[in-house]
Amino acid sequence: MTPAGGRPGGAPSSPAAAGTTKPGSPPDEPHTYQVRTEDDLLTVRHAVRAASQDLGFPLVDQTRVVTAASELARNALVHGGGGTVAVEPLHRPGGVGLRLVVSDKGPGIADLEGALTDGFTTGSGLGHGLGGAQRLMHTFDVCSSPGAGTTITAVRWRTR
Ligand SMILES: Nc1ncnc2c1ncn2[C@@H]1O[C@H](COP(=O)(O)OP(=O)(O)OP(=O)(O)O)[C@@H](O)[C@H]1O
Ligand SMILES: [Mg+2]
Repeated sequence: MTPAGGRPGGAPSSPAAAGTTKPGSPPDEPHTYQVRTEDDLLTVRHAVRAASQDLGFPLVDQTRVVTAASELARNALVHGGGGTVAVEPLHRPGGVGLRLVVSDKGPGIADLEGALTDGFTTGSGLGHGLGGAQRLMHTFDVCSSPGAGTTITAVRWRTR
C-alpha cells in the first residue's frame, strides 16, 4: 500500500490544497490542487515530488516531473488566470506512472506550435516552459482553443 492515498491533498496544513479526494481514498485517485497563488505552486511541487517518490521514481525522474508540473502550473497561473492541477498515480499492467492534468479557463493558446517553440513568449518569461515540460514527459496532450481555456494532460512512466 503506497502512502500516497493516505496523504490528504498532499499538504494537509495548506488551505491551497483544496483537494477533491478524501483522506484514506484509494491510491490511484487523482488529487486536485487549486493554483491561484505563488504558494499554490509550491504546494503542487511538493505534492508531485511526494507522489513520484511514492511510486519509486528515481530522483532524476522525480525532478523531471516536478519541473514539468511546476512550469505547467505556472503557465495556468500566469497566462490562464489560475487553474487546477490533478496528480494521479497510474498502476497499469504495463507499468507505473504519474499523470498530470493542468487546466485553466483562461484565454487559451492561440498559436500552439509557436508556444511549444523555445523562445516563444507572449509574456516576460523566457518562453522555455511549455516545450521544456513536453520534453520532460512521455506523453503530452494539449487541448486549447481561443476563449475556451487550456487543459494539458501529461504522463511520465517509471523507467526502472
Ligand atoms: N495556460 C496557458 N494559457 C494561455 N497561454 C498559454 C498557456 N500556457 C502557455 N501559453 C502561451 O504559450 C507561451 C509559451 O509558454 P512558455 O511556458 O513556453 O513560456 P512563458 O510562460 O512565456 O515563459 P517561461 O519560460 O517563463 O515559462 C506563453 O508565453 C503564452 O503565450
Ligand atoms: Mg511558462
